[in-house]
Amino acid sequence: MFQYTVTSDAAMQNVGAKIGQLVEPGSVIFLKGDLGAGKTTFTKGLATALGIQQYVKSPTFTLIREYTSGRIPLYHMDVYRLENGGGDELGLEEYFNGTGVSVVEWPQFIESEWPADYLQITINKVAADDNQRQLVFKPQGQQYENLVAQLAVAL
Ligand SMILES: Nc1ncnc2c1ncn2[C@@H]1O[C@H](COP(=O)(O)OP(=O)(O)O)[C@@H](O)[C@H]1O
Ligand SMILES: [Mg+2]
Repeated sequence: MFQYTVTSDAAMQNVGAKIGQLVEPGSVIFLKGDLGAGKTTFTKGLATALGIQQYVKSPTFTLIREYTSGRIPLYHMDVYRLENGGGDELGLEEYFNGTGVSVVEWPQFIESEWPADYLQITINKVAADDNQRQLVFKPQGQQYENLVAQLAVAL
């Protein structure tokens, strides 16, 4: 487990960008954290590092937004609206095994669809400071352990 603290929106985007340089086709990133924690902000940085020029907007109502103009496709998902189930109808397996990187906000609502390996990042607000966030990285599987080791060096 690796932890890292950021103190600004830009620093959060930088963490996303560093990960954007390390992901491969089929990478799966799970983002946990309350509303306003910075999950979408992180994803914006990741998208930038992939070379995606479009504005990354929260997929709260669409559930999934696909961006295909970067180094590899980005599948950005926010499955908060599936808190009462229904994730089995989204065909998530095809995204997770696809040629892009999947970034999932609120992954706890599709837990039955999780692949064997993934990187889970939990973003915690630090009460004393509006702009401070603690990130906790929990890699599952060798590929993601390697990714986090490289990230720790890059940050
Ligand atoms: N260190 C930080 N990391 C991420 N976001 C931050 C940080 N400090 C302030 N913010 C602000 O908090 C909000 C996070 O919103 P968003 O990324 O949409 O969260 P979520 O997707 O988790 O609901 C943004 O308005 C962002 O500018
Ligand atoms: Mg969001």
